[in-house]
Amino acid sequence: GTAQIGVTGLAVMGRNLARNFARHGYTVAVHNRSNSKTQSLVADHGHEGTFVASESMADFVASLERPRKVVIMVKAGGPTDAVIQELIPLLEQGDIVIDAGNAHFPDTIRRENELKAHGLHFVGSGVSGGEEGALNGPSIMPGGSRESYTTLGPILEDISAKVDGVPCCTYIGPDGAGHFVKMVHNGIEYADMQLIAEAYDLLKQGLGASAAEIGQIFADWNTGDLESFLIEITADVLAHVDAATGQAFVDVIEDRAEQKGTGRWTVQNALDLGVPITGIAEATFARALSGSVPQRTAAVGVLPAHTADWDVKDRDAFIEDVRLALYASKVVAYSQGFDQIAAASAEFGWDIDRGAMARIWRGGCIIRARFLNRITEAYERNPQLPLLLADEYFTGAVGNGVAAWRRIVAGAAQNGVPVPAFSSSLAYYDGVRAERLPANLIQAQRDFFGAHTYRRVDRAGTFHTEWTGDRTETAQ
Ligand code: 6PG
Repeated sequence: GTAQIGVTGLAVMGRNLARNFARHGYTVAVHNRSNSKTQSLVADHGHEGTFVASESMADFVASLERPRKVVIMVKAGGPTDAVIQELIPLLEQGDIVIDAGNAHFPDTIRRENELKAHGLHFVGSGVSGGEEGALNGPSIMPGGSRESYTTLGPILEDISAKVDGVPCCTYIGPDGAGHFVKMVHNGIEYADMQLIAEAYDLLKQGLGASAAEIGQIFADWNTGDLESFLIEITADVLAHVDAATGQAFVDVIEDRAEQKGTGRWTVQNALDLGVPITGIAEATFARALSGSVPQRTAAVGVLPAHTADWDVKDRDAFIEDVRLALYASKVVAYSQGFDQIAAASAEFGWDIDRGAMARIWRGGCIIRARFLNRITEAYERNPQLPLLLADEYFTGAVGNGVAAWRRIVAGAAQNGVPVPAFSSSLAYYDGVRAERLPANLIQAQRDFFGAHTYRRVDRAGTFHTEWTGDRTETAQ
């Protein structure tokens, strides 16, 4: 075979990845379950590079030079397993299978194990950036064996997005590490989107601003610390006018958010690891609430509000407060996400470099943002940083906005505007910085009803009090 890399699964993501490889001068083997997609790819884009099209999986594999590098871009779950099972008997020792879909990381761990037993490398790789990114440079998060990265890595780095000439692709860690990091990326994406949506709602309700006016505010924000892809597209969306009705486009969209599951996985895993990712969790639940139609129908106009009238005296000051609260809440969401990466890295032995994650998220991916440079710098200052918020830059940047953050969350509460991500992030901030939390009482209650024991502030060891008897305390 002569092809340097192969792509099987030519729906829009696979198709664009294949074109990206070809445009970078690689000879690309292409295959799809139904051959018409393969044919249309070559017919429409054959001139962009060199494609070797195959109708059967066997011919596709045979068209690849060794060690073979096969990118699978099909639906996560069953379809991915089916393609892997078809590939196994066709591949040879040392070949590399790359799953570039949004796989759930436990599946990736399982698949890596199975392929290792066959002498094959399995690379579970996160790919972010949607259709556009796949074609013009995504952020790529490949896991698997370090050995596979020596031959595969340069190709992936080549087709990835670049920021200041630095590729948005790096080796993440063994087995499930790449898909895990992509999962957390998506969780952070949910939090970012929810925070932006809450800021929009605050501006709408607090100022009575139109979608177009709010779009202009987001466009202004995009020239400062908040500069990011999601803020940019928000400004764009808010400015868009619906052709059919002539109304602001957002005003004719149903308010029920959907999801494909990566945010839910992030929250499920955080519960397993015991990491408080409250921003991501609230963002995920906010989508669920928006879709809770029977509950919402039962509540609208029925649940009493007792709200104050929002009386914003200084428009510009209010906008600045929302901006500061948004930035602070965003830092909390990232800080929590990076905690989750650290916890999983320790749990699964992945040794993930968090600074490098922020570096490869600066370009290509959905959460790409100017402020990711700050995160990389923070982990460069201290690779073991226990809390991103406690880095000197973020302490300053968030500290600067705390008063505004409190005004916004308090104002939202008094005026009945739901801001679960803003308020839970502030609660986390106050919780994590508290010298003493009320968890002492929880421990006492647990000991009372279940003899679960507690630790004392003044002596080492665990203790139990005979609550129903004479209340003597015994060391356990
Ligand atoms: C990306 C995106 C991509 C996808 C989201 C959408 O990084 O390119 O995250 O993976 O668009 O998964 O997720 P939901 O459908 O769950 O919102």
